[in-house]
Amino acid sequence: MKHELPKLPYGFADLEPYIDARTMEIHYTKHHQTYTDKFNAALDIHPELYEKSVEELLTHLDAVPQDIRTAVRNHGGGYYNHSLFWQYMSPHPSAEPGNDLHTALTHDFGSFDAFKDAFYKTATNHFGSGWAWLVMSLDKKLSIIETQNQDNPISQEQKPLLGIDIWEHAYYLKYQQKRADYIDAWWHTIDWNHVTENYHRAETH
Ligand SMILES: [Fe+2]
Repeated sequence: MKHELPKLPYGFADLEPYIDARTMEIHYTKHHQTYTDKFNAALDIHPELYEKSVEELLTHLDAVPQDIRTAVRNHGGGYYNHSLFWQYMSPHPSAEPGNDLHTALTHDFGSFDAFKDAFYKTATNHFGSGWAWLVMSLDKKLSIIETQNQDNPISQEQKPLLGIDIWEHAYYLKYQQKRADYIDAWWHTIDWNHVTENYHRAETH
C-alpha cells in the first residue's frame, strides 16, 4: 500500500504567531506531499518494499536496493521526518517535560537549561539544510545530534525524541535568514507531553 500524507493534527494558522499559516500550508501541502510522492515513486520500482514500514527501511538503508537507496534515504526520510515534526508541535503545548524526561535531561546535560542551550546551539550552527534532534542511543543515553538533508537518526542507531526542521523552507517566509528567531519561536510550540511519550516509548523498547 502506498504511503499517504498523514493528516495534520491542527490547522495551518493554529501555530501562529510562531509559525505563520502560509509557511505551514506550503510546508505541508507542497514539501511534505512531494516527499511522499517521490518516496512512493521510488518504491514503485520495488513494490515488495511497500510491505516494510518507513522506519524499517530507514533503519536498514543498506538492505534497500541500490538503485532506489538514495531516493528512499532522501524522500523516505523527508516523508518520515515531517510526519514526526508535525507531532512535536501543538497549538496548546504542554510547556514542560514530564518528570522522568526532566530527570533524564538533567542527568545527561547537567540541567534543563543546559540541554536547551545545547539544542539551540546545534540547531543554530548547523550548516546548510538539515535537522537538529534530541535522541536516545541504544544504551539509553540522551544526546543532541544534527543530520544533513533528510537523514533521520534511526539510520544511525539513534531514536528521535524531538527534532526541528532547519531547512529554509521551514522559516524563510516569516523569518528570512534569521534562523535563530525561528528557533526561539518554534520553542513555544513544542508539545512536551508528546516528547515525554516518545521518551517513555524509546526507553521501554
Ligand atoms: Fe521541511
